[in-house]
Amino acid sequence: MKGNIVVGQSGGPTAVINSSVAGVYAQAKKLGVKKVYGMVHGIEGFLEDKLCDLDEYLADPTGIERLKRTPSAFLGSCRFKMPKIEGHEDVYEKVFEIMEKHDIECLFYCGGNDSMDTVKMLSDYAKEHGKEQRFVGVPKTIDNDLPITDHCPGYGSAAKYIATSMKEIIRDNESFGAKKPTVCIVEIMGRNAGWLTAAAALSKDADCCGPDAIFLPEVDFDIEKFMDKVRELAATKSSVVIAVSEGVHDANGTYICEMGREVAVDAFGHKQMSGTAAMLAEKVAAATGLKTRAIEFSTLQRAATHIASLTDINEAFQVGADAVKAAEAGQTAMMITLERNGDDPYQCGTGAQDIHYIANVERKVPEEWITEDGMGLNEGYEAYARPLIMGELLPLYVNGVPSHLVRKK
Ligand code: F6P
Repeated sequence: MKGNIVVGQSGGPTAVINSSVAGVYAQAKKLGVKKVYGMVHGIEGFLEDKLCDLDEYLADPTGIERLKRTPSAFLGSCRFKMPKIEGHEDVYEKVFEIMEKHDIECLFYCGGNDSMDTVKMLSDYAKEHGKEQRFVGVPKTIDNDLPITDHCPGYGSAAKYIATSMKEIIRDNESFGAKKPTVCIVEIMGRNAGWLTAAAALSKDADCCGPDAIFLPEVDFDIEKFMDKVRELAATKSSVVIAVSEGVHDANGTYICEMGREVAVDAFGHKQMSGTAAMLAEKVAAATGLKTRAIEFSTLQRAATHIASLTDINEAFQVGADAVKAAEAGQTAMMITLERNGDDPYQCGTGAQDIHYIANVERKVPEEWITEDGMGLNEGYEAYARPLIMGELLPLYVNGVPSHLVRKK
C-alpha cells in the first residue's frame, strides 16, 4: 500500500471493538503503511478533519495489549447517517477532500448495520465519481444481527457477560428460599434481534438452572401470557428470574417500553429502548403482590472487557487485520465476515462479502432455535453460541481495577 489509511469506530461500542482497531493497526504496520490514522468520533468527526495518529498510542508494544483490554470505542464513536448522495454531494466531496489531504488510500469502518451503510454510501460515491480510494467494513455489534457473517465481534463478550451475570442474579435471587418468590426481571439489549437476550440461556449448567423464561423480540409479546407464566412459576418456585429483550413488542409491533410514554429517536430512526423490565416488574407487583426487582444491564453488557471472551477478542483482531489484507489486495465495498468451519472443535476463518448485501439488513434468531412455547432456546442455539464465549484475557490491574488505554483529548 503506497498511501496512508484511516480507521473509525461507529455505533454502539463493544468490549472488543478496540481489538479490531489493534488488528487494523498491526497488519498495516506489517505491510509498511506509514501513517495509520484514527477517526475521532467516526465519520462525523472525520468530516471535521478530527484525526489522531495511532503511532502515538500503539507503536509501543504494550499499546496493543492495553488497547485489547480497553472497553468501548477508544477513538470515539458516532451515530451519523450519511445523507443520500443526490443533493448532498458536498458531504461526500468533503470526505474525499480530507482523504486526499492526508494521503489516505483506504478507509476502514468498524460497526454494525448502520455503519455498514456508511461504507456502502462512500464506496458507491467513489465508484460513481471514478475515485480510487477503497472502503472496507469491519463487523462489530453486540446485537449480532449483521447478515451473512456467522456472528459479529462484540457478541461473544456481551453474551459471556450476560451468561455470567444471569448466574449471579439467579444465585442471589434464590438465596432466601422464601415461601413467596421474588420475581426478578432482567432486561437485555438488542433492539429488534434477540441474540443477546438468548445468551441468558448460556447461564444454564450443572450448577445453575438458568432463567425460568426468556422473551425475545422474534416472538410477539403477549402480556397476559407473560402474567400467566409468572403466576405458574411463582406457584411452584421460591425464585423466579426472567430475561426479556429491550425490544419485545406486541403483535402490532408496539414496543412494550414505549407503551404509555414517549421515547427518543436517533439519527437512524431507532427508538431508544429502556424501561421494559421496570414496567413489567411494576405490572407483576400490582397483579400478584409479589416482591419484584427489575435489572437493566444497559451499557454494562457492552463495556465489560474485564470478562470479555478471548475467542471474541482474537476474532475482532483478526477481522481488523484481514480488512487491511483485503484492501491491500485491491478490494473495496466489502465487509469482512466470520465463517465457521466447525463447532467441535470450534473453528472459524474469515471471508469478505459485498457490502450491498449487508448494509441495513438485520438477521434474527432462527425460529428453529426457539422452544415451542416461545419462551426459551434449545440445543441448536447452545451449540452455536457456547464456543463464542470461550476463553479469558486477564485485565491489567492497577490499584485494584482494570487499567485502560485512553486517547488524549
Ligand atoms: O447497536 C447496539 C446497541 O447496543 C443496541 O443493542 C441498543 O439498542 C443500542 O445500541 C443502544 O444505543 P444507545 O446507547 O445509543 O442508546
